[in-house]
Amino acid sequence: MISNSFKTTEIANYRLSIAPMMDCTDRHFRVLMRQITKKSLLYTEMIVAQALHYSNNRNKLLDFDEIEHPISIQLGGDNPKLLAEAAQMAEDWGYDEINLNIGCPSPRVKSGNFGACLMGKPKTVANCIEKMKKSCNIPITVKHRLGIDNLDSDDYLLKFVDTCSLAGADRFVIHARKAWLNGLSPKENRTLPPLQYERVQKLKNNRPELIIELNGGINTMNDCVKTLQVFDGAMVGRAAYSHPFIWRKVDSMIYGQKEEYLSRSKIINKVIPFAQKNIENDGRLWQTAKHILNLIENIPNAKILRQELSEQCQKQKADVSILKKIAQQLEDAGQ
Ligand SMILES: Cc1cc2nc3c(=O)[nH]c(=O)nc-3n(C[C@H](O)[C@H](O)[C@H](O)COP(=O)(O)O)c2cc1C
Repeated sequence: MISNSFKTTEIANYRLSIAPMMDCTDRHFRVLMRQITKKSLLYTEMIVAQALHYSNNRNKLLDFDEIEHPISIQLGGDNPKLLAEAAQMAEDWGYDEINLNIGCPSPRVKSGNFGACLMGKPKTVANCIEKMKKSCNIPITVKHRLGIDNLDSDDYLLKFVDTCSLAGADRFVIHARKAWLNGLSPKENRTLPPLQYERVQKLKNNRPELIIELNGGINTMNDCVKTLQVFDGAMVGRAAYSHPFIWRKVDSMIYGQKEEYLSRSKIINKVIPFAQKNIENDGRLWQTAKHILNLIENIPNAKILRQELSEQCQKQKADVSILKKIAQQLEDAGQ
């Protein structure tokens, strides 16, 4: 067993996390989400260790804003040496944690021999975790499924988790459905195999000493509170991306912080300096604004406001004045 130089309590602290999601959880979305919850753990999109190794623009792949802490970088790969190198880079860049992706079922990822198919190769995963642990001093966590194809018994899952734990994995995020690697698309693999929370609960009962976080279908604050009665953490994906505003009470309800009144206009105003900085660095307003769209729902005139935001912010030379205007309109409407 590899020993940790950080306290176990630190990694058990993140009761809620916002899932890694390709093309969604970029820096812009994370900065928005950070205005909504200061305490939850945010994840990057998956970064492939091999891509990092060969990249001549690592800053683009690794840079994040200081306000994004606490932040976990998700890595994909099956080569222990490249993953160890990536882990070292992640620590140097200031990430708080590293997560290894053993849950992605996409054919592209499968053809690279990583993601969910690695659930069929526990020894390779253990080797990767050991090498990553040796190369850095931040927690290494694993995100995986209940199983893949016909390797999905409770016994298999328990052995997989034990193997990773012995190698030094510090937390397990379990997407509570199996993945079918042949025949289902990645999208179908997020809905069709049924969620089986009871199997993750059984695992937690068998290994109470392990830090187990549940993922899949946690869609409301209420679901989250219920999840935390059983598990050490709850990870929310699509419901956070599509409905960011419903999570505004996370810090007070989950983390016991003093409740801060958060309105949609206040959140947008807090994101504006970041959007401005991005434009000054040759970015475009739309990169930030596209995530803000989902903040505007369940209020009168939501459709019109969304349309205005979408049309104006996609213009080539759009500047933050349109975001200021929308924030003011929302404020005037008591939102
Ligand atoms: C658009 C999209 C992209 C995703 N990309 C990743 C990814 O890069 N890495 C990963 O581990 N999971 C990825 N996932 C899976 C989510 O992290 C999560 O496990 C899944 O959506 C189930 O949680 P939910 O029901 O709360 O959405 C992605 C999901 C979606 C919808």
